[in-house]
Amino acid sequence: MNKRLIIANWKMHGDLAMAGGFAAALGQVNTVEVVVMPPMAYLQGMAEAAAGQVALGCQDISPFAEGAYTGDVSAGMAYEVGARWALVGHSERRVVHSESDQDVAAKCEAAVEAGLSPIVCVGETQQQRDAGLAVETISDQLASIWRLLLQAPAAGIAYEPVWAIGSGQVASLEDVAVMHRSIREQMRAYDARMLEKVRVIYGGSVKPNNVGELFTDDAVEGVLVGGASLDPESFRAIIDVAAEQAAAEKE
Ligand code: 13P
Repeated sequence: MNKRLIIANWKMHGDLAMAGGFAAALGQVNTVEVVVMPPMAYLQGMAEAAAGQVALGCQDISPFAEGAYTGDVSAGMAYEVGARWALVGHSERRVVHSESDQDVAAKCEAAVEAGLSPIVCVGETQQQRDAGLAVETISDQLASIWRLLLQAPAAGIAYEPVWAIGSGQVASLEDVAVMHRSIREQMRAYDARMLEKVRVIYGGSVKPNNVGELFTDDAVEGVLVGGASLDPESFRAIIDVAAEQAAAEKE
């Protein structure tokens, strides 16, 4: 099984002091891979304070390498100040900033070209799920990114049902497992080399008290955590559950 990947997505929360002290508050991490994604403004400060103790990523990047794109930050710039991972296609970007699957693919390509490992977010709305279109929606969202993931240094796909984000309503283990297996089947069909390279992780109301159940299924290769990643104690508790389960699986 791939090493589990635990990612903190702070969204637009936090401040310089929080970013500076977070890695120290988190402590040492070994058996699982941890990535923290603060707001872009705090990335460099956090990279300096964390001094390699925890890997860092950004929550979004420009699809362009450079140019007259006011307000954008390129993947190369994010890399230069410490990012090694980049989220692309988070549903909040797709909804609030009207990003299309084509935009997401362009961002994914920009990330890979700059040496960043992309985490591509996908997810269906409640309406799409109710209409029986969940699997189809996710397949459509992934269609144009497979070739890019093969070229990436490392990569992940984050299944984040839109209705589970920030709602306190975590998806059932069965729904998560069905979707993760479907994503892995699509990977296998495209190129089986991806099965070892691309981790399929879950996001949406992940908390210390529900992450253990998610990890009972090996189709869940990690988690993308929003609200519960803002407090180093609760994020640490999630890491500890993952580490304990990884140790138990080794025995
Ligand atoms: P919450 O964990 O706050 O539901 O956020 C999930 C998410 O969107 C992570 O990217």
